[in-house]
Order: sequence, then C-alpha cells, then structure tokens
Amino acid sequence: HNIVFVTSEAAPYSKTGGLGDVCGSLPIALAARGHRVMVVSPRYINGTPADKKFANAVDLDCLIKVYCFGGVQEVGFFHEYKDGVDWVFVDHPSYHRPGNPYGDIHGAFGDNQFRFTLLCHAACEAPLVLPLGGFTYGEKCLFLVNDWHASLVPVLLAAKYRPYGVYKDARSILVIHNLSHQGVEPATTYMNLGLPPEWYGAVEWVFPTWARAHALDTGQAVNLLKGAVVTADRLLTVSQGYSWEITTAEGGYGLNGLLSSRRSVLNGITNGIDVAEWDPSSDEHIACHYSAENLNGKAQCKIALQKEVGLPVRPDCPLIGFVGRLDFQKGIDLIRSAIPEIMEDEVQFVMLGSGDPQFEDWMRATESAYKDKFRGWVGFNVPISHMITAGCDILLMPSRFEPCGLNQLYAMRYGTVPVVHDTGGLRDTVENFNPFAQEGHGEGTGWTFSPLTKESMLAALRNATRTYREHKSSWEGLMKRGMQRDYTWENAAIQYEQVFEWAFLDPPYVS
Ligand code: ADP
Ligand code: GLC
Repeated sequence: HNIVFVTSEAAPYSKTGGLGDVCGSLPIALAARGHRVMVVSPRYINGTPADKKFANAVDLDCLIKVYCFGGVQEVGFFHEYKDGVDWVFVDHPSYHRPGNPYGDIHGAFGDNQFRFTLLCHAACEAPLVLPLGGFTYGEKCLFLVNDWHASLVPVLLAAKYRPYGVYKDARSILVIHNLSHQGVEPATTYMNLGLPPEWYGAVEWVFPTWARAHALDTGQAVNLLKGAVVTADRLLTVSQGYSWEITTAEGGYGLNGLLSSRRSVLNGITNGIDVAEWDPSSDEHIACHYSAENLNGKAQCKIALQKEVGLPVRPDCPLIGFVGRLDFQKGIDLIRSAIPEIMEDEVQFVMLGSGDPQFEDWMRATESAYKDKFRGWVGFNVPISHMITAGCDILLMPSRFEPCGLNQLYAMRYGTVPVVHDTGGLRDTVENFNPFAQEGHGEGTGWTFSPLTKESMLAALRNATRTYREHKSSWEGLMKRGMQRDYTWENAAIQYEQVFEWAFLDPPYVS
C-alpha cells in the first residue's frame, strides 16, 4: 500500500511522548515490509540545537495555498528520505516558535486548532502534489491519522475531496493514542476549518444526511477527534484493552456511545518499541551493557545512576523509578500522596518528568525533604530516561488510564520490573507475578495492582521490594522473563496489515 501517516510528532524529529515514538518507528517497520510510506508532520523550528534534527530535510519548493481561518495560508514542504520512509515536514511560520509542539512555558498555544488544521489540509494535498522519488503517491492511498491533531483528514476526504471525485479509492484509519485530548474549541470556530457548512450540526435541517450532520459538534463545541470517529473507515487504538475501555462511560470521555456504535470497525494493536534504541546490550546512554544471558552490567548501571542523580551509592537498596509526563493521566497525585509512606521504607526513588507545574514544584520540594532517598529530575531528558530504565530495579506506573504505555515495555526489556495499575495497555503487557506457578519457578513479569488507590499501590510496591530483597532467584526470573519477550514492531506491523486489508474491503465509509 501507499501509506500516509499524519501526526503532530515523529521521533527523532519531534517528541513529547509515546506518540512520537510510535510515529518514528511504525512507519519504518511498515516500509521494511514493502509498503511505500510517507510521514507528514510539522517542521517545528524553535531556535534551539534541536532544530538540527531537521537539517537534512530539503525544501521541495512546492507551495500550496490553504483556505481556512478566513484567509489564505501559504504552506511549504520539506523532505528527507531515511530508513525507507519519506519524512515530509509541513512548513509554516506558526510552527516556528520556542517551546514544544503544543505550547511553551506559558501553557498551550492559543492557535493549536489553526496549526493542526493546516497540517491536515497539507497532508491531504501531499500525496497528490509532492513528487517523492520521482512520482506522487497518488489518490489510492491509506491515511493513518493519529489523534485529534490529524483528525480533520478523514473529514476533508469526505467533505472536500470526494464530492469532486478525488480520493474515491483512498481509505483512512484513525489511530487513537489518547482519547482524553479531542481538539475541542468553541462552536464558532467551525467556520474556520475550511469545511462546507452542512458538516456542522447547526445546519442539520438543511442537509439532513445522518453521517454529516453533527459530524464535528459535541453540544456547543467543535470536536475534531469526533469528526474522525464518525468519518474514518476504521478505528484503531494502541492496545486491545484500551479499545474496549473507550467504549465504556469511564474511559470514553464522552465519545463512548459513538465509539460503541462503530465497534465492528474498532480494533486494538499493542505498540512495539524501537528495539535498536532500547537495547541494554548496546545502549549508548548507559554505563555498562548487559543482557538476559549476562545480567552483571545492570549493577554498574544502578551505581552510575545513583552517582549521576546524587543519591547515596547503595547497590542493595531497591531503587524505584518513574519516567513520564507529569499529568493527571499518569497518577502522579497518587505517588504524591504515597511518598511519605514509601519514604519510610528502605528504598530510593528517582523521578524524571515535566509537565504540570504543581507536580514539578512538588518534585523539587520532595527532593529537599528526603535528600538521601528521593531525586526529582524536572525536564525532558532522553539520556537520563535511558539511565533510569537501566539503573532502577523497579519502574512504577500508577497511570489512571494508559492506552498502551511504552515505559513499562522499555523497563521489561532492561530487566527493570514494572509495578503498574491494572489498566489499558499496562494490563495487556505486564503479567502479574505468581511465585508458585511453573512448579515453583514462578511466572509473570511484574505487578499489576487494582483498584487505583494508595493502599493497593503501596501493597504492590512492598511486595516487589520484599521479593527483590528476600527472593533473589524469583527476582531474576521476573527480570529474565521480561527481557525475553518479543517487543519488535514487526509483530504490530503484521497486525496493521490485516487492518489495512479490512479497510479496503468496503467502499469508503462516508463518500
Ligand atoms: P505517553 O505517550 O502517554 O507520554 P508512553 O509511555 O507511551 O506515554 O511514552 C512516553 C515516552 O516519552 C517514552 O518514550 C518516555 O521515555 C518519554 N518521556 C516521557 N517523559 C520524559 C522525560 N521527562 N524525559 C525523557 N523522556 C520522556
Ligand atoms: C499516548 C498514550 C500512551 C501510548 C502512546 C503511544 O500518548 O498515553 O499510553 O503508549 O500514546 O501510542
């Protein structure tokens, strides 16, 4: 197939979380399986050394005009062919500013709806107008649109292109990485999107076509993700568990009814990981290499981490880690409430994260309160995230919900035992430890706790630290089983291919 990924992040060019990882790796895995793959993402230039990542992308000298937000925008394209993939970067002044893809120190940018509307318009044009490797991708392509930032693409296919006979043979798949962000803005912004009026519920009586009316509105708001939920040919989430959770009132963030109604085209495929970047036997960021066959180097990594973050070097003290966005989703408030009790135990704790300022402040304060036991590294730092993944004994992930989660996968591959809330992708990927199975050899790769309370998290954590201290062979079994699992993207890519076949079985869902 000719596949067009549309995404707000693609590592290593841009990344704030797992979306970047997935859109940096899955395209390569699909290209390796013989597909022609393009990734369309913004060319973020923020005046820091990170801009160097875009240095090899050349200007295609192809300007298009996008009519939206009451005016005409000129949008350009840059291109780099790497790892078998066409990386296409959409260029516009609104992507050139300090901060990350979504905001800066003052919070989210006020014009994100505009910035990602541009991305979607440009992504729809790219296969038609860009000569990549000599010829265009053409109309018979498959759009993989990721999260709300790319959600306007299937709406545009149906509303702007198909009425003119274009993209009749294209299909689209919405990949939901996180349902809690939907791109919701006031209803008045609808007219800015560059769509015909009949696609908004307010004028339903004029064009009472069920698929169109209310395509983008939820009450008094424009909801871009909803637009894709009702127009994409198929829906995917990043684990099977999450694909079920989003159809429930608890996990559906208001879209559960709609998602349930499309259950027959909704699947879940668990993410893989970049096993070259995340490999304890060759990782350039860690002090000493090791593997499931020879675990010795892990102890060196622990010492190096303790030194790096300034904790006392204590080889036998259980070292607990956390890496992630400091967000309500990740259950940071639960860690905060449990810290006084965790700190009563003989443990060390290192946290790396950035995000919500109240949690950043709390991390700094906790560090001063427990100097010998707690380190809170505020910031986004890839080398430190590798050092924590390798150097810790335990990785804690009390996520309130977790569509897939990558850190627990990295942890298991590095022999770091995850203790996770029993939810979404965490439940699908971490097998709860059972010491008595397999004639006493044990089975499982970590601890999954439920319900999401301080008490059950503490109980799981204390089970883990006790096992670490008192049952060395059980611990080694946990480490090795985790390290030996198959985390490659190829597995996931094969399942994606199955979904691609299904997408082309039927005519476009909305034409
Ligand atoms: P999410 O996408 O919800 O943030 P995931 O577990 O899927 O969660 O992916 C998070 C990714 O972002 C991982 O690659 C993780 O290592 C990385 N990450 C998150 N916070 C940081 C940080 N402060 N520094 C470095 N890497 C981080
Ligand atoms: C999202 C989810 C996370 C998932 C990632 C990549 O950001 O929060 O669970 O692993 O996307 O799919």
